[in-house]
This record gives sequence, C-alpha cells and structure tokens, in this order.
Amino acid sequence: MITSREQDAPRIGVLWREDRRAGSALPRADRGLRPLYDGLAALGAVLVPVPYSDDAVDEVREELLAVDGALVWVNPIQDGATRALLDPLLREVAAQGIWVSAHPDVILKLGTKEVLYRTRHLGWGSDTGLYQSAAEFAAAFPERLARLGRLVVKQARGNGGNGVWKVELPGGKPGPAGPDAVVRVQDARARDGSSELVALGEFIRRCEDCLAWSGSLVDQVYQDRLADGMIRCYFSGTRVTGFGRQWPQGLLDGPQGPAPATVMQDPGTPQWQALRQRAEQEWVPQLAGVLGLRAEELPAIWDADFLFGPKTPDGDDTYVLCEINASAVWPFPPAAAPVIAAAAVARSRAAQAMRPPVPAGSGGSGGQDPQPGHGQR
Ligand SMILES: Nc1ncnc2c1ncn2[C@@H]1O[C@H](COP(=O)(O)OP(=O)(O)O)[C@@H](O)[C@H]1O
Ligand SMILES: [Mg+2]
Repeated sequence: MITSREQDAPRIGVLWREDRRAGSALPRADRGLRPLYDGLAALGAVLVPVPYSDDAVDEVREELLAVDGALVWVNPIQDGATRALLDPLLREVAAQGIWVSAHPDVILKLGTKEVLYRTRHLGWGSDTGLYQSAAEFAAAFPERLARLGRLVVKQARGNGGNGVWKVELPGGKPGPAGPDAVVRVQDARARDGSSELVALGEFIRRCEDCLAWSGSLVDQVYQDRLADGMIRCYFSGTRVTGFGRQWPQGLLDGPQGPAPATVMQDPGTPQWQALRQRAEQEWVPQLAGVLGLRAEELPAIWDADFLFGPKTPDGDDTYVLCEINASAVWPFPPAAAPVIAAAAVARSRAAQAMRPPVPAGSGGSGGQDPQPGHGQR
C-alpha cells in the first residue's frame, strides 16, 4: 500500500552553525527570526531546528533527510570555519528531493563576488575585473590600477570585510603601476581608517592565499560616496521584501565617528521606490538570465547591497552593486518574514509532491506530526 504525502504538514528545517551539545532548541531568535517562526506556524508548517557543526555531518544528514525543505544560515567564513563540509551535504540532500535555500550551487553563482563581474554590464554594474589565478592577477591587475588609480579588491567568498582592500596609487590617480610602485592598501576590516604603504608586487603576492582559498578575486572601482552609506535591498525570490539603510565603516577615508545603527525599512518606503522598481523589473530578471537561474531557484531570502553612484544631472541617486549575500541573510526586515515563510512552505510542498510516495509502514519522514508548531526531533 502507498500513502500520499501531499496532505502532510510541510516540515521545514532551519539550519544554522551551532555547537550541538549546547542543545539550543531554536536558532537565533535574536537575529530577527521570531516573525519567521510565527509565519511558518501560521501556514501550518512544522519547524525543525537543525543545528549544524562540522563534526556532526552524519547526524545532520539524517535530520535533513527527514524534512521537506531547509532554510540555511551559514556564513562562507566564520571564526575560521568554512562551508567545505556543509556544501556537499546540502547538495546531497537536495539531490534527494529536499528543497534547500540557498542551494550551494546557487550561492556559487549569486552570492560570490564573481557576480559583480558577470553583471558588470547591467544598470547596477561598475567597471570590474576578474582574476581566476595568481598569474592572471599579477599580469592584469597592475594595468587596471594604472588606468583607474583606485580599486577595491575582493576575494570571491567572504564576509565582514574579510579579504576586501582598497588599493590606490598616490592620490588615487592613474599613473605608473610597476611591481615597485608604492600603493596605499586599506583593509575593510579596519574600523579606524588606517592603511599601509606597500610595493604593488608585495600586495599582489599577499593576495595569493585568498585567491587559492576563494577561487578568484575581483576588483571594482571605488565609490566616492561611501560616506553616504549603503542601501541593502532584501529579496525573496524575485521580489523586494524590504530595505536596510546602513553605514558601513570599512574603507572610509580616515578615522570616523560611531556609525549610525542599521534601520530596517518596509518594501514600500517611498525613498527607495525607484530602486525597487528597477531591481524587480530590470536587474533581477537580467541577473537570473545572465546566471542561468530560473526565478524559483532564487533563494527564499537574499540581499543585494548598493553603494551610491554619482548623482544624475537631475540630482537623482544612482546605485552600484557592492555585493550579493545569499548564505546567511539575517536579520532581515520584519516585513520579509511572512514572504519568506510563504516561499518556504510553497517550495517545500512542491518538493514533497515531487518525491516518490513513501510505502506505508516504512517509517518515512513527514506526516508524523501534522500539528503546526515547532517540531522537535
Ligand atoms: N566599490 C566600493 N567602493 C567603496 N567601498 C566599497 C566598495 N566595495 C566595498 N566597499 C566597502 O568595503 C566593505 C566590504 O565589502 P563587501 O563587498 O561588502 O564585502 P563583504 O561584506 O563580503 O566583506 C563594504 O561594506 C564597503 O564599506
Ligand atoms: Mg558587505
């Protein structure tokens, strides 16, 4: 006999990096996830906490194979830990028919700095270089720096300013850029505006490890309006679900006062409607086309950070893509929570419907706990 799974309450895993022995029942309500938990419960989903640690891959695999979908929040690099073990695991369970957001292959296309290069010709793009080997970086970067004077170099995978530097020739002006040229290098992790003078050849050598670790480097032109802050645009799939107005400190010139706190804003915030319209109608469809992603492959929650470009002659803002985050987008605006919940439930139900029916009595996952709420395993 065969039972249909289609009527089962979708079981949705929430995966985050955690010491499993700490036994925390729910992930990071402090990161603004509470409204998401409520949204999932309201839609009849069963929430399944899946704390992840690299020494428990087998246990986590079992837990993931027992859900219909999984929302994942794990940074590319955090306290020295990477996703080297997590990503193959997520690929494996996704191949078994579990919906995973964000899927590691989607992160590779969308959430690494290479996206800045691949979409440099879109309306959000800026003059960008891509280097896929140390030899390529050594050969081509000096020429770009000589021509542009001031560039921001970024390792492909990173967060928190890790592997991001402003590199400039004297005065930030174009000029000769041989291996002995002295460049000013500012690390985006420094919060005091400090920088150092090094030979360009030495800087290029220092980047070799980052390149080897993260797979590639990109550079893009430095945006002079950095002190005006940034606007983070939160998306669920193809839709804008809110904004985060923020004032990053990394790469600002000189010491700065304390940064204002990030302000979360609704998707309807009047100041950002031009940005929203262009993002939804133009840039995101083009992005999906360039990356070869179907709309439903875009994560349930992701964000794009925009720097302010030069104003138009009419005094309007322009926006330059700084990075896309898809690995661990939390916190997010409260207005995003019900949209993420709806996406997770719809995708998990679709995954549930696609998987082969479970023979009765086989003890398959799902369907054992039809009550909405926080499922525990
Ligand atoms: N093109 C740029 N122009 C000016 N500042 C930049 C530029 N790119 C990055 N920054 C600064 O560097 C910081 C880190 O860069 P980002 O691309 O966001 O990498 P990540 O957050 O992954 O470390 C940004 O928050 C911003 O302060
Ligand atoms: Mg950033």
